[in-house]
Amino acid sequence: MTSSQTSTKPDALASLNLQGQHSAVIGIQYGDEGKGQIVDVLGAHFDVVARYNGGANAGHTVIIGDQKFALHLIPSGIMCPDALNVVGNGVVIDPAQILKEIDGLVERGIAIGENLKISNRAHVVLPYHKVQDVLYDQAMAKAKGSEPIGTTGRGIGPCYADKALRTTAVRMGELLRIDELETKIQRIVSIKNTILEALAKTCDQPFEQLDANAIFADLKDQAIRLAPHITDTSVLLHDAMDDGKKILCEGANATMLDIDHGTYPFVTSSNCSSLGIYAGSGLPGGTIKNIIGIVKLYTSRVGEGPFPSELLNETGETIRQQGNEFGTTTGRPRRTGWLDLVSVRYASKLSGVTTFACTGLAVLAGLKTIKLCVGYRLDGKVIDNTLPANAGDLARAEPIYEEFEGFADPIGECQRYEDLPPQARAYVERVQELLGTRIAMVCVGRRRDQILVCPNK
Ligand code: IMP
Repeated sequence: MTSSQTSTKPDALASLNLQGQHSAVIGIQYGDEGKGQIVDVLGAHFDVVARYNGGANAGHTVIIGDQKFALHLIPSGIMCPDALNVVGNGVVIDPAQILKEIDGLVERGIAIGENLKISNRAHVVLPYHKVQDVLYDQAMAKAKGSEPIGTTGRGIGPCYADKALRTTAVRMGELLRIDELETKIQRIVSIKNTILEALAKTCDQPFEQLDANAIFADLKDQAIRLAPHITDTSVLLHDAMDDGKKILCEGANATMLDIDHGTYPFVTSSNCSSLGIYAGSGLPGGTIKNIIGIVKLYTSRVGEGPFPSELLNETGETIRQQGNEFGTTTGRPRRTGWLDLVSVRYASKLSGVTTFACTGLAVLAGLKTIKLCVGYRLDGKVIDNTLPANAGDLARAEPIYEEFEGFADPIGECQRYEDLPPQARAYVERVQELLGTRIAMVCVGRRRDQILVCPNK
């Protein structure tokens, strides 16, 4: 890679006014806002990049020059040579997946060694979790009166469920005492086989008994390779703080998918808003001073769930194609729609956003009109400052739009915010006005050098 391919605009970081404090990058919508790009750029200015939630359901894309890296479990800071990358206790880890990711990165010249640490308290996603995930959604799709979630099938929900159940859970630290794990795996697999066989019957799916010996044998091999990375990452983070090092937390998934505060039950199984940072990393409450909220200037959503500003028409398809809105993790086409400022405002308050970075502006180029959802009409009332807690109510909400003139030209090569077409700036500035918090950056593409700094007004 040449230096110009990897360069970032020098004032991009200064524009965030982070004042050298611990910070977090959080998705404010339904995921896929482009967090990886921002973490990658910021990572170079922090000593530690930490993930605190989610698992391989997340897909963070980092583009460096002409190379594209899709990360699922490893923090995006791995591209920054000097950053320590921490996978915190709140993450659920599929050992096969993280090893695949490590191998892929090493093959492409990214060094992985002491720069990657994995919490000994993080939970392990095992093959039966993935089987359960898929069967459960199939069973819900078949049963009367219930709906599937449309999960990623990565075993996320079942693994977090086992974490809560405790007796059928496995933590990464147990891989360091692998011989003690053999009988436990046999016991758990026997229970899972009974449950999964019954579940498969309810949705007429074939079921092949899982082989505990094979699962344990794989785990034993994986444990040998992962052992050097597994440690008490809470202590690591505390020591880093004591040494004056700066920490950047990378949220996976996004605030509207938060298990407590998102569009339940159409959410993921972790606290992916900034509220999950402390429980999922071991950092003391209140450590993080800057919350950078990532907002895509339209909306996308994968899987089921309410989406008032969804576009089920040609414009939605145009956005999908122009934005390449196909899942990084599953390849599924994403649902697309206009930016929903009601949910963005709600999610920003929850995550305590101090500054916004916006992505996706270039995707809107060529649209004649751009719409912005500024409120909902529900049961004869106008809602603009909160979100119905009930997913069914939210699904019935009718969007209230403001309309903006579109901009025709591609904007990917604009060098400064001022170079953007006036229509594009008018849209961004109205979004900022309605959010009441500064938009510090606008991305006009996914490369490191396509981040424009917005004026502070
Ligand atoms: P799960 O996390 O695989 O259980 O999926 C639950 C819901 O969250 C599904 O609708 C997924 O499509 C969605 N989801 C989970 N993680 C992400 C993400 O990182 N981006 C977008 N959607 C996600």
